[in-house]
Amino acid sequence: MSQSNQYILGKETKKRLSGLENSLDTATITYLSKIGVAEGWTCLEVGAGGGSITEWLCQCVGPTGHVVATDIGTHLLEVLDYENLEVRQHNIVADDLEVEKFDLVHIRYVLGHLPERELVLEKLTKALKPNGWILVEDGDNMTHQAEQKVSPPHTVELYTKVFGALKQAMEASGLAFNLGGNLYGHLVNLGYKNINTMGAFELVRGGTKASEFYKMSTGKLKDLVVGMKLSTSEEYDSFVALFDNPDFALWSYATMSAWGQKPEN
Ligand SMILES: C[S@@+](CC[C@H](N)C(=O)[O-])C[C@H]1O[C@@H](n2cnc3c(N)ncnc32)[C@H](O)[C@@H]1O
Repeated sequence: MSQSNQYILGKETKKRLSGLENSLDTATITYLSKIGVAEGWTCLEVGAGGGSITEWLCQCVGPTGHVVATDIGTHLLEVLDYENLEVRQHNIVADDLEVEKFDLVHIRYVLGHLPERELVLEKLTKALKPNGWILVEDGDNMTHQAEQKVSPPHTVELYTKVFGALKQAMEASGLAFNLGGNLYGHLVNLGYKNINTMGAFELVRGGTKASEFYKMSTGKLKDLVVGMKLSTSEEYDSFVALFDNPDFALWSYATMSAWGQKPEN
């Protein structure tokens, strides 16, 4: 199982993360707005990546608010220029956090990578003020499969086979494929109140901007899967090429978003 300081996807690029931001930000901002993030709030964005939600938070909380954006790699956050932003190089598993400091904690597509996810959720809960809000978002494999009505059968077969190998390799590295569906339960177990949970997924066609994200992500993991002898190099390349094939489509992971309010002590 991987150590939490060995992020399986390595150093992030804005190009890959903007694929995620383009698909997810509208929904995330809707949930943050429902929570009622407002001027003067103190916010923590964990594993902030390319920083699009960090930017939104900085604008929303204004000069009387404060945003702490953390990541193990902060190179994409350091270019952001907001007076109320503190960028912190920080490993959410290994490093300390303030206690009862934040009105809001947001963490999206980070916990699934961390074998220590339950301990991290406890740490984030401690970091919230009483009545503070958490918004946790992560993927779930429940919807993810090759589209089967239009995609040619050989592409469906190839995708299903090699994705199965990729899933096996990633699970062996500690990655969770069912975290999204468990977020509600985690918040209940931690005693949160006013919990809401929403999910969203999309059809991703080959050769589109959305499929570029899948192409870049799966491409990064070739050495892992081939090195474990779960796929051949040629077969893996054909799998990655599906994301450029306009005849092929897949149903994305479901992104599950759960938010709730920490009870008063
Ligand atoms: C899939 S990206 C998501 C980025 C951003 N949250 C978003 O949704 O657009 C995961 C991010 O978590 C960061 N990360 C991975 N392990 C981490 C850790 N242990 N502590 C803090 N950040 C971590 C990565 O560097 C990366 O920027």
